[in-house]
Order: sequence, then structure tokens, then C-alpha cells
Amino acid sequence: MRAMGTLESVMRDDHRLPPLAEPGYDFQGATFDLEKPEDRDIVRFILSQALYGEATGVYCGKSLYAAGSLEAARFYLRQAKQELNHLSTFAEIFRLLEMTPEPAHWVVKLLSSHNNYYPLKVMMEHALGEGMVLDIFKDLLLQTLPDADPRVPLIKKKLRIVCREEQEHVAWGEKETKRILEEMPHLRTPFYGLLELQMAVVPFITRAFKQRTQGHPVLEHLEPFLEFVRQRVFEQGKLLGIVPERRPGLAKRQLAIATGLALYGRSQFARSTSKLEKIYLKELGFQ
Ligand SMILES: [Fe+2]
Ligand SMILES: [Fe+2]
Repeated sequence: MRAMGTLESVMRDDHRLPPLAEPGYDFQGATFDLEKPEDRDIVRFILSQALYGEATGVYCGKSLYAAGSLEAARFYLRQAKQELNHLSTFAEIFRLLEMTPEPAHWVVKLLSSHNNYYPLKVMMEHALGEGMVLDIFKDLLLQTLPDADPRVPLIKKKLRIVCREEQEHVAWGEKETKRILEEMPHLRTPFYGLLELQMAVVPFITRAFKQRTQGHPVLEHLEPFLEFVRQRVFEQGKLLGIVPERRPGLAKRQLAIATGLALYGRSQFARSTSKLEKIYLKELGFQ
């Protein structure tokens, strides 16, 4: 009953969402076998990262405090509700597949850690982080869960709704990142450094599966899929005005990473500042 209740509540919002974009990476029909214990292990690993990510995703609600417009405040309120629904959705998927979640990987914990410095949270979490979440949900899970399994069609139905909402979150993150960079162009270099750093730690997630890739229909795609995600993030970074058209040499990259780390270090002591009580009259059209 609880499972259906959540699905119905997310589907109420369904008609307002834009259609799901085509997958960016093609797994060429490769699927997991949900009857095999070793495949179940891998799917459990992927879903466990998703579950943790959704739990931390709920903290986008904290961005309400720093939201600089009514539009932003409305968005974070809606997003927090959606992330909370996603958390329940993944719990339902675990139950449907009769799996138990495991603790999240350290890279996922690092990438999804909350940041009180609003511009960093927007760029790292909403634009880049949720972009990669969408790659995993839309490209990996939707293609590699086997349709022949009677549990999968319902799971995919739920996942498609999650993906369409994540698409909106990424679009917002990108729009907000562009706005922030117009206001604070000096953040471009540290943002670029942090993007390089994120791309450097991402491959650590798949290390555990490296030995098992040979001969496995899905895992053989692991390296090319990772490369696809990397390329896509760099392209996204270019569109946001963070990544230079031509990738700079090592020394310049290291310098950008150092400024990124310095910004990240400072952000750990940042306190977000409240906005709404300062802007509400203008935002409501009284000024
Ligand atoms: Fe989510
Ligand atoms: Fe999201």
C-alpha cells in the first residue's frame, strides 16, 4: 500500500514534467541477470549509492535560507519534496528486489556532502552532481535492468518519474550556476579546479568491479561509460563557462585545482546568509 501511495503522489506531478531525454550512452542491450547473486551484488551496490544520494539530496531544502529570489525558494521547496519522494522510491525498489542497502562508497559521500556556501552547493551538487546522478539513473539503470524480470517494469516506471524530476533539478542547477558566475566571475577558475578534481575521484567508485569486467555484458561497458560521463561533464562545464574551450596544461590545471581546494576549504567555515526577509518586498512587487 505504502509503495503505491508514493508512486501515485509522484505521478500527480507527472504531467508538468518535460519528457525524458534520450540516453546519452548506449549499453547495446546489455542487462543484469537479477537471478544471479554476483549481478544482484552489483545492482545492490548501485542502488545503495542512489539511496544515500537521495537522502542527502533532501538537504537542498537548506538552500531555502540562501535562496535569492521567490523563484529559487519555490524551486528548493518543490525539489526537497521530490528528493524525499525519491528516497522512498529507492527504498521501495530495494524491497521489490528483496535486497538490503549497504553503506555508501566514500566517493559518493564526498561528492554529496553538504556545503553551506551557496554558489558551491549550486555548482557542485545541483549542476554537476545531479547531472551525474541522471547519467546513472537514466543511462545505466533504465537500460541495464532486465525487462524480462516481472519486477522491473514497475521499477522502471518509478525510475522514469525520478529521472524526469532530476532533469529539472539539473536544468535549475545550470541556470543558477550561470547566474552566479555572471555575478561572481572570479569563481570560474576555482569552479573549474573543483570540476577537474571531481572527475579525478569518480573512477575510484568502479575500482571494486575492475576484476569482474571481462565477459560480463554490462561491466564490459564500465570503462567506456565512465569516459562518456567524463566527456559529458566537461562539455557541460564548457556550456556553463567553467571549463576552457581547450583543456589547459598540467600546471594551469593544478593551479585551478589549488584555488578550487582553497575555496572548498573556506566554504567549510561559511555560514549561509538569509535572503528572503531582505528581498521579499521587491520580490512581491511592492518596491
Ligand atoms: Fe533525487
Ligand atoms: Fe535531484
